[in-house]
Amino acid sequence: MKNLKKQDPKIYNAIKNEIKRQEEGLELIPSEIAASIPVMEALGSVLTNKYSEGYPYKRYYGGQENTDIVESIAIERAKKLFGVPHANVQPYSGSPANLAVYVAVCKPGDTVMGLNLLDGGHLTHGWKASATSMFYNTIPYHVKPDGRLDLEEIERLALKHKPKLIWVGATAYAREFPFEKIAKIADKVGAYLAADIAHIAGLVIAGVHKSPAKYAHIITTTTHKTLRGPRGGMIMVTTKGLKKDPELAQKIDRAIFPNLQGGPHNHQTAAIAVALGEAMKPSFKKYGQQVVKNAKALAAELMKSGIKLVSNGTDNHLMLIDCGKGRGVLLQDAMGMAGMTVNKNTIPLDPSTPFYPSGVRLGTPSLTVRGMKEKEMKKIAGWIAEVMEEIKTFEFPEDKEERIAALKKFKAYIGKNKKLKSIKSEIKNLCKKFPLYKDLNW
Ligand SMILES: Cc1ncc(COP(=O)(O)O)c(C=O)c1O
Repeated sequence: MKNLKKQDPKIYNAIKNEIKRQEEGLELIPSEIAASIPVMEALGSVLTNKYSEGYPYKRYYGGQENTDIVESIAIERAKKLFGVPHANVQPYSGSPANLAVYVAVCKPGDTVMGLNLLDGGHLTHGWKASATSMFYNTIPYHVKPDGRLDLEEIERLALKHKPKLIWVGATAYAREFPFEKIAKIADKVGAYLAADIAHIAGLVIAGVHKSPAKYAHIITTTTHKTLRGPRGGMIMVTTKGLKKDPELAQKIDRAIFPNLQGGPHNHQTAAIAVALGEAMKPSFKKYGQQVVKNAKALAAELMKSGIKLVSNGTDNHLMLIDCGKGRGVLLQDAMGMAGMTVNKNTIPLDPSTPFYPSGVRLGTPSLTVRGMKEKEMKKIAGWIAEVMEEIKTFEFPEDKEERIAALKKFKAYIGKNKKLKSIKSEIKNLCKKFPLYKDLNW
């Protein structure tokens, strides 16, 4: 980055420090990962200069001889990897991809069902703060107290409300999605079924999570989570989807452009193509398998030390620690101080609020791409248990004013805590043995 360094040292330094932060700490946020260097090279390319409104070989601007190749390759790879007849790789990210599905198959005011945000669903599946609930009549469904989808409730709500569209997918759900069971419900009421596999796309490709391709009509995903690409999104239409609605592919394409977006981000499309190319290699299967093995090992070790996990374990890449009422923020901050980045999260039937939730969400994709295996998961579980021990006596008041003061005191306490400092330095040493980027010449 020598040119950037010379021209804009403030931005250069922030990026340099971010590389250091990522290298020296354990990234346990399950929606994050380290993209490969070829993916970042494509993302940083001159393709960012080009306008390409439209689709390959049907554009509104000239000069598309290279962008057409790039986007066509991305589309073909996506179709092959997910076993679908149609793919749109232009969504700027996961949220616009999901909004495009509404635009494609619903009219404003239509009824849509999705997993409640507090139960692990995504904002765009109809949460009240999302634009999706401003334009559509959204009915949330829930998980049972055991952390698994409440299929009986989904069926009851679907029969009652006759939704046009049902979402299956989540942002904080540790169990395999029963796509076939939800498909039966959607088919019974004539709804479109959209599977949002943003979190698990890499696991589906690796064959360690069942694919929704046979069951859903539409599949959406982000490209930057387990898939290990750049930030971005994709929408796919399945054979079942085309059978239900032969116009579905055109409806999706139209929803992205011109309904919602302008020119595609060609540099992002190129990086998606590169990531999909990587996902076709046998090594990607191994990575996906190891992500799940690591998550299961981490979950088992945490539970061995008495830590409570929602649904008592995991089938995929993530798990949710039940930290006690409103205590997610305490564990998030204390783990951060010890060199482990996680995010506070609500848990099913959370007795607290989304701002002070009772859980912490963690996952293994980023640990796995740096080469860590079950042995390291055991170590990490031990550190998490030690952090929890350090903060367990800290009271967290319910009163708002008292809570702000208590949090200030807590921050000062963890800032000086010797145990957390020593864990941080052990983690730094472990990370040196598992560099994220061996060849990053920045
Ligand atoms: C299940 C799910 N869908 C959609 C999204 C939205 O993706 P983005 O943040 O790229 O808009 C996310 C992001 O966390 C997600 O978890």
